[in-house]
Amino acid sequence: MIGSIDTSHVLHADMKKTIPTVKRGEGIYLYDVHGKRYLDGSSGPVACNLGHGIKEIAEVLASQAEEVAFVYRTQFTNEPIEKFAGLLAEMAPGDLNRVFFVNSGSEATEMAIKIARQYYLEQGKVKKEWVVSRWLSYHGMTLGALSLSGHVARRRDYVNTLLPYPKIPACYCYRCPFANTYPDCQVACARKLKETIQMTGSEYFSAFIAEPVVGAAGGAISSPPEYFRIIRDTCDELDILLIADEVMTGFGRTGKNFAIEHWDVTPDIIAFAKGASAGYYPLAGVIVSEKIYQTLRSGTGKFIPGHTFSGTPLAGAIGVKVMEYMKQHDVVGNVVRLERYLMAQLKSLYKHATVGDVRGKGFLTGVEFVRDQKTKEPFANKEWGKVSNLIVQKAFDKGLIIYPGGGTVDGHRGDHILIGPPLTIRKEEIDELIFILDETIKEIEGMVC
Ligand SMILES: Cc1ncc(COP(=O)(O)O)c(C=O)c1O
Repeated sequence: MIGSIDTSHVLHADMKKTIPTVKRGEGIYLYDVHGKRYLDGSSGPVACNLGHGIKEIAEVLASQAEEVAFVYRTQFTNEPIEKFAGLLAEMAPGDLNRVFFVNSGSEATEMAIKIARQYYLEQGKVKKEWVVSRWLSYHGMTLGALSLSGHVARRRDYVNTLLPYPKIPACYCYRCPFANTYPDCQVACARKLKETIQMTGSEYFSAFIAEPVVGAAGGAISSPPEYFRIIRDTCDELDILLIADEVMTGFGRTGKNFAIEHWDVTPDIIAFAKGASAGYYPLAGVIVSEKIYQTLRSGTGKFIPGHTFSGTPLAGAIGVKVMEYMKQHDVVGNVVRLERYLMAQLKSLYKHATVGDVRGKGFLTGVEFVRDQKTKEPFANKEWGKVSNLIVQKAFDKGLIIYPGGGTVDGHRGDHILIGPPLTIRKEEIDELIFILDETIKEIEGMVC
């Protein structure tokens, strides 16, 4: 049998379980080789923003590959990548208008901190190298990106190898790390940034990085309206750069081109990936401000980091096509029109005793599960494993794909799921998603309560 875990040569994430072999995708649905249909309620890992099987995007891949697929960025530039960079400069907030391309979100966040480092080196501020980030965050799996990540389960096996960058507590109102309540808290979690940097000395720090809405590590945790304004002011005061990790939130996912726009704040660097190509090709990068660009250009004028596949014609052609498709089909408008409906349907799940919190922005939403709705007591990890995994597996069996997560309580306990359907989903498809999720929770609740 194709893909059987006993005969497959692929090293699969779970080496004890055979997963279905996919055959094709169409719209928000995927079909396996046996014809079973799955509603892609998480756009894979919140990447396939336009859904599957769009022929006109596939055709661009073929025609660009016929013309020229690859050139090396130090030898040639190319028309598609130049055009795509121009579109990104138009979309990005403020004067963020220079783009460096890579191939994954992890490379993008690492590239962002390398640019921050160079920005200060060019000014002779040679000690400015460390980066502050937050607990309950995910910035990627390569070692630099993992050093930034406050995702306990993903860090645990590599702790001695990771860089000891400091982390401030998460902004997580449902379980406030300071046991405060908003607005009485005066957003103490944001103010912690200044204290943390000053304890060591701002001369050692180059940047602060955060996801505007926390994805994998937190299950769509957002923050109060003042949060990023306080962070921005602190960065300016202490002369460090603000990096918005928009790998999951970019390109309309939360109802704006970039999620940081909800806070009316302009970062110095945006890291992007996933939605840039909507999964049709590996494509990621960083968009930097004119201030950073001019400092590099008027200094050494050289930027050394990069990868073989940085900024190829194929990547550029897909990026341009995806942006055109989004505009033609008013994809971000669809999120804005349906986000309240999706949230209202998700909130109807509070009728289940195990649904503790429903949250998110736009089409990046999450549900956190608890043993007790009032006390917010989390599930203990039992012999049947994590509740979030049980829910995700049961939903999958019923033909709904959602994304599991955990550890928001203390790095280990805590169960949540991410729901992030393609941005093109229709109202009746949201109803189908909610129907399967509702049934799933009912069944798992019967098992674990
Ligand atoms: C916010 C964020 N940053 C970085 C990454 C890493 O991206 P990649 O898996 O493409 O390396 C992810 C992946 O989920 C992410 O959600």
